[in-house]
Amino acid sequence: MPGFNPDRGFGVYVHWPYCARICPYCDFNVYAAKARDTDPLYRAILDDLSGWRGRTGERQVASIFLGGGTPSLMTGEQVAGVIAQVDRLWGLKPGAEITLEANPDDAARFGDFAAAGVNRLSLGVQSLDDARLKFLGRMHSADEALRALEQAKGKFRSVSVDLIYSLPGQSEADWRTELSRTLALGADHLSLYELTIEPGAAFAFAVKRKDWTPLDDDRSAGLYEVTQAMTAEAGFDGYEISNHARGFEHQSVHNRIYWSSGDWVGVGPGAHGRLTTGDERWAIEAAEKPGEYLQQVKAQGLGWAGVEKLEAVADARERVAMGLRVVDGFERGLVGELGLSLDEARVAELVRDRLLVEGARVVLTPEGRLLADRIAGEIAP
Ligand SMILES: C[S@@+](CC[C@H](N)C(=O)[O-])C[C@H]1O[C@@H](n2cnc3c(N)ncnc32)[C@H](O)[C@@H]1O
Ligand code: SF4
Repeated sequence: MPGFNPDRGFGVYVHWPYCARICPYCDFNVYAAKARDTDPLYRAILDDLSGWRGRTGERQVASIFLGGGTPSLMTGEQVAGVIAQVDRLWGLKPGAEITLEANPDDAARFGDFAAAGVNRLSLGVQSLDDARLKFLGRMHSADEALRALEQAKGKFRSVSVDLIYSLPGQSEADWRTELSRTLALGADHLSLYELTIEPGAAFAFAVKRKDWTPLDDDRSAGLYEVTQAMTAEAGFDGYEISNHARGFEHQSVHNRIYWSSGDWVGVGPGAHGRLTTGDERWAIEAAEKPGEYLQQVKAQGLGWAGVEKLEAVADARERVAMGLRVVDGFERGLVGELGLSLDEARVAELVRDRLLVEGARVVLTPEGRLLADRIAGEIAP
């Protein structure tokens, strides 16, 4: 297995696990914020970053992603402190992307985040319809989300909007109206997610109780196709299954690192990271619960609770699954360099069925992208 390839990128993910309220669809590693002192967590994150620095050696950081949870609950000083620590330890590449995920409720702090060095804001609008926002358990109204978006514009190099569709009872006409309003908002990037019923989330219990019925797969697939067509027509590149950018410069550098199997540091409770050292690639997971994370960092100077060596087959499977998500697919060399190969007979069949295009890169067709996960499982070693 080859050593770390800096061309695939090196980034830092910071997980801030607190939220003002837990949304019923969400299965991320999140905890109600309540009135708590977050300084110990902030300090543990700074220490964890130092611990990682001792393992990665010298590398320049192309991207920092403050995700969650709700990192817009952090103070401007905390955000500035994290960015300064990353810069001090590794050095930020000139023009490095620094993203923060924000809830519209926290718009009053956007100026502080921009002053701290954040240059990309990902805003959780989720819907432009008040009844749907209520269904999603959101604390903001559509108007408040739109006002937050206006406050973000001009403060950051890039502003992205998250929306969830394929909600129960959502018709194609409904979604067309909502999406055309969204496309007119002037965002630089859109993350448009089909609602997933996550097994551990409150929605899964509501569905089990038959409180409501999720949209069926055919109608969801129809809404996905409408999404691809309308975003493309409005000038957004659908560069990944759920992500659309107004031009290459607004594509997320951070997600590219994941999709091209680069390395990233993962700090904060439950954060995942990937680290290549010499010929080995490691999957690392920080202690999940905030209290355990603080203990772990205190005890060993690192938040690591799970460290697993990725064997070549597991690494290749992950590379294929991630690589197929992006519009330009993945280079065959990404699997070949691990001494493995794709299931060529299955690749040929999928090319015949017009689900895959094959050349130096392996790329899904628009129809294939609907089946990305299944196809990844079929062609990976
Ligand atoms: C870590 S979360 C959000 C950040 C921020 N706390 C917020 O709620 O706006 C990232 C995004 O994942 C999406 N998401 C979370 N759970 C989802 C689900 N079950 N189905 C579809 N999208 C989901 C939401 O659009 C959300 O904005
Ligand atoms: S969607 Fe955002 S605000 Fe809601 S629980 Fe998940 S991370 Fe927290």
